[in-house]
Amino acid sequence: MKTMTPILYRNLDAWRGARPIMGGQRIGFVPTMGALHAGHRALLERARAENDRVVLSIFVNPTQFNDLADLEKYPQTLAQDLALAEGLATDVLMPTAQAMYPDNYRFRATELELSRELEGAHRPGHFDGVLTVVLKLLNLVQPHRAYFGEKDWQQLQLVRGMVAALFLPVEIVACPTVREESGLAMSSRNARLSEQGRAHAAHFSRILKEAPDAAGAALELKFAGFEVDYVEDRAGARLGAVRLEGVRLIDHVRL
Ligand code: PAF
Repeated sequence: MKTMTPILYRNLDAWRGARPIMGGQRIGFVPTMGALHAGHRALLERARAENDRVVLSIFVNPTQFNDLADLEKYPQTLAQDLALAEGLATDVLMPTAQAMYPDNYRFRATELELSRELEGAHRPGHFDGVLTVVLKLLNLVQPHRAYFGEKDWQQLQLVRGMVAALFLPVEIVACPTVREESGLAMSSRNARLSEQGRAHAAHFSRILKEAPDAAGAALELKFAGFEVDYVEDRAGARLGAVRLEGVRLIDHVRL
């Protein structure tokens, strides 16, 4: 694949006009909400290594935010995002909310079991928003492969489940969580922590990994000053969600 500045599509009609011209090229897709970091870079690099073109979407999806304040505070760093995408993505999709939801979210993708647990129990409607936007994006991009981080374990399982249930012709590729040197999982939300908070947040993954069981981890996290939404062991891994300085952090560590 040649290194080049990605083509930017803010207009979905322009993208839909360009997509058929890509013909038989293998398309790798990395869906994001922007505020890109080293975790996104790893997804883009893997997509680039495995495909002819790499499509990156940057869309802060309003329907997956159950808390309006969280949506308003979501970091927007477009210039840095485009700099990070340079040489990795061939095409960047940046649709408006109006273009993505011409139906005003009247039609949506819903899962009735896993989506109601863990994150879903704390963020009602969150996964309806995620699955709906991922389905729309997959239909628009028509990629051969789509790349998701393992940090968002529940999202990954639900997207895989939807792809299988709806016979979507795409391979979902899971990529390992990228961490800061301290062990803190890379997340766009980390940017909202103070310097001190960011240093303290490193205890989150350490406690998840080292505590003997989920209940012990939850207790230790509380003692360490985190507000704990949940800690649970599932499928050989420990999942947790906490708040620090009002910022919600999630993680997934293998046991
Ligand atoms: O993981 C994310 O950044 C988002 O949930 C996604 C998959 C881009 C959908 O908006």
